[in-house]
Amino acid sequence: MVKNYPAVSEEYLKAVDKAKRKLKGFIAEKNCAPLMLRLAWHSAGTFDQCSKTGGPFGTMRFKAEQGHAANNGVDIAVRLLEPIKEQFPILSYADFYQLAGVVAVEVTGGPDVPFHPGRPDKQEPPVEGRLPDATKGSDHLRDVFVKQMGLSDQDIVALSGAHTLGRCHKERSGFEGPWTQNPLIFDNSYFTELLSGEKEGLLQLPSDKALLADPAFRPLVDKYAADEDAFFADYAAAHMKLSELGFADA
Ligand code: HEM
Repeated sequence: MVKNYPAVSEEYLKAVDKAKRKLKGFIAEKNCAPLMLRLAWHSAGTFDQCSKTGGPFGTMRFKAEQGHAANNGVDIAVRLLEPIKEQFPILSYADFYQLAGVVAVEVTGGPDVPFHPGRPDKQEPPVEGRLPDATKGSDHLRDVFVKQMGLSDQDIVALSGAHTLGRCHKERSGFEGPWTQNPLIFDNSYFTELLSGEKEGLLQLPSDKALLADPAFRPLVDKYAADEDAFFADYAAAHMKLSELGFADA
């Protein structure tokens, strides 16, 4: 889709640049890249292309959305970010949360994800229940990512590679453990671990395993496990699309 990005002021661009620096330092210091990436993704992933509701428009700042069952723990990210956000009143929460997601990928060694500012803050949180269910398979992933959000099969596999970062927490999702041996490094180990089978101490969700069984997803898993550059290129493109769902559509 051709995007029609809004013009933002010189002052706004400067604030984006400065906020990016502050976020880099803060996320590195607190080792909180995984949670920041989850915040950005859960903000954007509620987009529904039919009703044009939800999406990366800052509504995660509201307790109502933080209270959705899928967002358990995301309130911590919102709270951690608040003192930095206060330094940049000119920025929308919408841009700020997506910027934090982009920085999280960058500071952990992942690809640079292009960032376009100008998302407006909306007042209405999306309805609950739009984020994917980890206990389900490929049909469900396509219902959410392709039918609801308007992304592609390739985006599903590339974006799932974000589970190279972080872990599941029993008290948040009911699952426990990391996907990889180095959950603070963004690399292609999510795919190599997925292919090498279940291991003591590591976790694979049913929705991760679905990528192995599906005939359209599997070749992409094989490709990203063999070629980290290919994963990084497709991941960066998919993350940018995710971060811009419903934004600047021509
Ligand atoms: C494909 C469907 C997906 C499902 C079913 C899913 C499910 C989950 C679950 C259950 C957790 C554990 C939460 C917790 O207990 O703390 C989690 C964590 C995480 N997810 Fe996903 N996820 C999906 C896609 C994505 C995408 C697209 C991204 C980003 C682009 C992402 C990024 C993360 C990150 C970084 C964490 C770690 C958070 C932390 O360590 O605190 N996930 N995901």
